[in-house]
Amino acid sequence: MSKQEWIIAGVLCLMVAATAWIVRAAPGDDWQRDPIRMAYSPLHFKPAILQATDAECLACHREVLEDKPRAASPAGLQAAEARAWYQQASTYSGEQESFHRRHLVTPYAQQVMNLKCNTCHEGHDPRDEAQGTSATGPGQDDRGFVLRKQVNPETSCLKCHGQMPWKNMALPGPWTDFAQDFGNSCLDNCHEKIRTTRHQVSYLKAEAIEAAGRRDSEVCYGCHGGRPWYRTSYPYPRHAWPDMPRKTPDWAAGRPTESEERFRTTPAARTFKP
Ligand code: HEC
Ligand code: HEC
Ligand code: HEC
Ligand code: HEC
Repeated sequence: MSKQEWIIAGVLCLMVAATAWIVRAAPGDDWQRDPIRMAYSPLHFKPAILQATDAECLACHREVLEDKPRAASPAGLQAAEARAWYQQASTYSGEQESFHRRHLVTPYAQQVMNLKCNTCHEGHDPRDEAQGTSATGPGQDDRGFVLRKQVNPETSCLKCHGQMPWKNMALPGPWTDFAQDFGNSCLDNCHEKIRTTRHQVSYLKAEAIEAAGRRDSEVCYGCHGGRPWYRTSYPYPRHAWPDMPRKTPDWAAGRPTESEERFRTTPAARTFKP
């Protein structure tokens, strides 16, 4: 080959190498390494998110179950010695844990609950975290408004962190004031017979809850008023129970009579009909 041919061949080789390098580095080639593109993973959106397994989410997000709170605050307060007001229920135990671990992996969480990532996470669009940014995004009507939240608290947290609606139950006052009068039990005399069709949802362990609630009313009260983040209570579905009064009280008018479909464990036809 002449000198000229060598130069042309060399330039061609360089071009091939450069093209290969550009193609390799392009985001489309290996999107699983590009955080911006992963944020648009189909798993972050409906419908895929509703079918997602925890393992699929944890493949990218294992930090949510691995991270632990600091042992001490920057000011020196020892986490092990701090107990917040919502950590006073008798069911609370163990060292301080992260929010996700408290709901998914701690012993009490595993005893009474069966939460999954998509129990709370129903999808989030990085473009649509502000209201009115697209025709389909949140903020187009009041119901869709979940500004900058990746989870809708009214349809998740409120279920287990609302107030106890003691007036609806015709109790004389808040549970903490009158628990002793009821033998410190939600079951004896009351929920053994009233609203007995309960917790038939995939994210709760219904039998374990009854067993634990029999030993300690703070099990029931914990989720039904004992650690409230809200001034309201959740409008629970009102399932029929044996000996249910025929007349629906005013506060229950318009309540659903079945749990949300995506969580139901009992086919509608098999739940008790009065
Ligand atoms: C392919 C990897 C991948 C998978 C699978 C994945 N994610 Fe993500 N997720 C990401 C990345 C990357 C981000 C953006 C992180 C950032 O920019 O801070 C993100 C962001 C998030 C955020 C925060 C959004 C925000 O705007 O701050 C939540 C919540 C989330 N993911 C939940 C989930 C859930 C629940 C699942 C399973 C249904 C899931 N992810 C599956 C990679 C993934
Ligand atoms: C009890 C409800 C609940 C469950 C169950 C849950 N999350 Fe979250 N998650 C939240 C809330 C609330 C936030 C904070 C959202 C916000 O800031 O708007 C959050 C935040 C996140 C974030 C953002 C980064 C962070 O750590 O704050 C990721 C990622 C995430 N969750 C992934 C997961 C994965 C993966 C699972 C399943 C293993 C899971 N979540 C289960 C409620 C839940
Ligand atoms: C299915 C019931 C349930 C749902 C839904 C739920 N929680 Fe909880 N939450 C609990 C229980 C039970 C505890 C107490 C666990 C314990 O004592 O070990 C708890 C504890 C907490 C704590 C205290 C954690 C700690 O370590 O002290 C916070 C904060 C919290 N929840 C916030 C939320 C938020 C925010 C949501 C909605 C995204 C939510 N929870 C949804 C049942 C639930
Ligand atoms: C881990 C949290 C948790 C604990 C513990 C718990 N509950 Fe619930 N309870 C819930 C949730 C969530 C629902 C709504 C389920 C649904 O949508 O069907 C509910 C629903 C109910 C309802 C409505 C019944 C109906 O018609 O559907 C009653 C009554 C009730 N609980 C009583 C109790 C009693 C009594 C105990 C103690 C033995 C108890 N709960 C313990 C979370 C809890």
